[in-house]
Amino acid sequence: MFTHEPVLLSECLRILDPKAGESVLDVTLGLGGHAREFLQRIGSTGSFIGLDADSDNLRQAEESLQHFSASKTFIHTNFRSLPDCLPSDRREFDVIFADIGLSSVHVDDPSRGFTFRADAPLDLRFDRTSGMTGAALLSSLDPETLMTAFQKFGELPRARSLVEAIRSRKDGPILRTGQLVDVVRSVYGYKAPGFLPQVFQALRILVNGELDALEQLLAVGPSMLKPGGRLGIISFHSLEDRLVKQKFRELVAVEKDPVTGADVGQSSFKLLTPRAVRPAAEEIKTNPRSRSACLRALSKAELYTSHRT
Ligand SMILES: C[S@@+](CC[C@H](N)C(=O)[O-])C[C@H]1O[C@@H](n2cnc3c(N)ncnc32)[C@H](O)[C@@H]1O
Repeated sequence: MFTHEPVLLSECLRILDPKAGESVLDVTLGLGGHAREFLQRIGSTGSFIGLDADSDNLRQAEESLQHFSASKTFIHTNFRSLPDCLPSDRREFDVIFADIGLSSVHVDDPSRGFTFRADAPLDLRFDRTSGMTGAALLSSLDPETLMTAFQKFGELPRARSLVEAIRSRKDGPILRTGQLVDVVRSVYGYKAPGFLPQVFQALRILVNGELDALEQLLAVGPSMLKPGGRLGIISFHSLEDRLVKQKFRELVAVEKDPVTGADVGQSSFKLLTPRAVRPAAEEIKTNPRSRSACLRALSKAELYTSHRT
């Protein structure tokens, strides 16, 4: 049985402040670490929906959360399909929460292909029931797209040489993590150990379309908040955090008249985290995987004059 330590847990509870009777949507249920505390707080009169693209994580979380008395719904889906994946009468929430990226399970179970530390099929999908594996993408995507992904999602130098080495591998297409590791070694030499995490991260972001999913969440999430509702997003990568920060800034900006530039209306949203919230040194010490976590949150006004989302 694999475990996952929830990150920035006390900060999420303090800032998102789920209360008795409220409705919570957790779009990255994982093993239910944050959800457990949300369910505790909302009590028997609250309602909870948990989503995850990984059906194994979803099932394990569902089992471990059964004893909470709130009304609970668990849905195997990618949050990229919000809001349509939700029941039609449950489209507004007091708290919406996302803790994006991969869970410890993905890294700790070598058979999933997320880690370069063990040889396994190069899968890297959160949802093993759909989409293309890492191996399939490496052999079928056009080289320019692959190179851009390595540069953008992994900030890798010599991405062109890497793609050329992947495509011209003399023993045929890469199917396993170990084969990718060998190619990375052939390109980066003694510097390869420093670049392996970035190569696997870039491929994982590409395989799971992680930035597209986040953009969809940012596009629809704010409009799914009830008045007074709170949206919190934990990201682990500067590209993701930049998207969250920019969208939140746009949402809280005072509305301007497009012609005169005069202030014409208060925004419906307020930042709950003027600066990104990061784990304290103590948390990083006990859970080193939390070190790049970054929480941002905003709230929707109780009574608002503008309906901008
Ligand atoms: C960091 S873990 C969440 C951990 C959880 N908060 C906990 O404490 O147990 C992220 C989870 O979100 C899922 N996930 C990532 N991207 C997703 C997406 N676009 N749609 C649905 N689930 C996603 C992953 O499968 C993983 O289980």
